[in-house]
Amino acid sequence: NTETPHYIIDEEIVRKIYKKRKDTSHKGNYGKTCIVAGCFGKIGAAVLATKSALFSGSGLTYILAPKCGYEILQTTCPEAMYLYGGEDFIKNFTVENDFTYGIGPGLGTDYETEEKLMHFLKNYNEPLVLDADALNLISKNSENLNLIPKNSIITPHPKEFSRLFGESKDSFERLELAKSKAKELGIYIVLKGHHTQIITPEGNVFYNITGNSGLAKGGSGDVLLGIITSFLAQGYSPENAAIFGVWLHGKAADFTAEKHSKEAMLASDVIQHIGEVFKYLQ
Ligand code: APR
Ligand code: MG
Repeated sequence: NTETPHYIIDEEIVRKIYKKRKDTSHKGNYGKTCIVAGCFGKIGAAVLATKSALFSGSGLTYILAPKCGYEILQTTCPEAMYLYGGEDFIKNFTVENDFTYGIGPGLGTDYETEEKLMHFLKNYNEPLVLDADALNLISKNSENLNLIPKNSIITPHPKEFSRLFGESKDSFERLELAKSKAKELGIYIVLKGHHTQIITPEGNVFYNITGNSGLAKGGSGDVLLGIITSFLAQGYSPENAAIFGVWLHGKAADFTAEKHSKEAMLASDVIQHIGEVFKYLQ
């Protein structure tokens, strides 16, 4: 129904969510983020997601990616730990219960990857973040949807959303469908677009108003996945991780556009402006 509450994510909401780091804290207080991403030709997606997790406060950051990404990832993200998976990295995709997983950017959609991802989801019950090819793989069989752990966050763009849940005739119908699916599956749906909407399992809707068309470029979604996963790892609730992550991603993009223009800004530049957003909140 359309009667559930709708909110605009304003700074007041964000300032209530944001938790400052404690002076006496150590890396163990800020979670273990594990990014599962990349395939031959799309290692950049893994780099962007991992860097975004590092830049948004993750205590320990791990990457599970194919061997062809090893040198690239160790060079571009030296603070992260590369989990050796072999050429067929997905074979080593085993459950670590203290990891918070963000899965999907540039992962590829071959049969082997599908098998391993579904096997993983059958054996993992904590909230995680699923994006891009992880969602495309889940779309291959409607029964896969039930494997998504409760309170997980999925971050589809409109095409990924319709692959998962079917076509809608307009954005209003899509929102109603998202509400019913979020309730049915007990998950958070981050419906990406100009004004990204976050739909909770209760059917509440949070509208984001930060961000700009400089984000309309490949790589922006990978940055969002990294930020949200890192927040979830740091102990933010799934709802707060999604709200804060989407807002911060857009705000960093707004700062980036001011400096570089919407045309010339890159997803990598957005990552470089994440720090400015934390400073703005402090
Ligand atoms: N205004 C505000 N925000 C925008 C705008 C805009 N005009 N355009 C895009 N964005 C934001 C979205 O809200 C989202 O957070 O940029 C991000 C884009 O994410 P994706 O659509 O997932 O794009 P991206 O992942 O970077 O694309 C790379 O991954 O998901 C696959 O199929 C996708 O091949 C593509 C690849
Ligand atoms: Mg994407």
